[in-house]
Amino acid sequence: MLSDARKFVGTFAAVAILAGGMMSVAHAEEGERGERGWWGSGESHGGKYGGENRGKPVQPPQVNATFKQECSSCHIAYSPGLLPAESWRKVMSGLDKHFGTDASLTEQETKEITDFLVSNASNRWSAAAAPLRITEGAWFKHKHDGREISPTVWNNPKVKSPANCAACHPQAESGDFNEHNIRIPR
Ligand code: HEC
Ligand code: HEC
Repeated sequence: MLSDARKFVGTFAAVAILAGGMMSVAHAEEGERGERGWWGSGESHGGKYGGENRGKPVQPPQVNATFKQECSSCHIAYSPGLLPAESWRKVMSGLDKHFGTDASLTEQETKEITDFLVSNASNRWSAAAAPLRITEGAWFKHKHDGREISPTVWNNPKVKSPANCAACHPQAESGDFNEHNIRIPR
């Protein structure tokens, strides 16, 4: 369980990190494959952003309870299919220095959650440099660039951060990013 103090630290850190969040650049998707959108939209953009068709959802039907409890206090529990296995290993091995906050867990909890995330991870790309952030991925930037979403939306305090998926995808926590379920806050 998390203390209120820890929640506060998390909130504070989230605000502090905002400034850098959107600007960071990563080119981790060199190895992306697949023809169809992995969320079922069936889109393809010249093979660059093909998304994956891995025959399984971004979120498995059974979500590990420890993960759900421990990884949803500061932000939503991000679906395992949003990052490749190597990224999850990195995230999980650095929880004591987690985006400016301390999210460390017991060894047992860390192992259990790592196993869950890794075994349900994305296989969309074989990233040489696995990103720590979902929001650093080329596909993410492509879907959330200036043509799709104006800067005023990003500056809306209800959005706060690109990592705040649920601000615009109300069902993000259940792994639903369907275009028809998007609600941009006004
Ligand atoms: C104490 C608060 C806290 C806890 C607990 C926590 N996180 Fe985070 N996490 C953060 C903050 C702060 C950020 C940065 C958010 C931002 O940039 O808006 C973040 C960002 C992330 C990101 C990157 C999001 C992106 O794409 O920008 C991932 C992935 C992530 N956390 C995974 C986890 C996992 C897995 C757990 C559980 C083991 C967890 N977090 C628990 C505070 C926390
Ligand atoms: C400010 C609002 C906003 C935030 C925050 C946001 N998104 Fe989106 N997202 C959108 C919009 C708008 C689209 C539709 C873009 C388009 O028309 O192709 C989209 C599209 C997507 C798609 C593609 C859906 C499809 O059917 O093609 C995925 C997947 C997605 N977002 C995941 C995420 C994740 C994961 C996060 C958090 C790490 C996130 N989004 C944060 C607004 C947002």
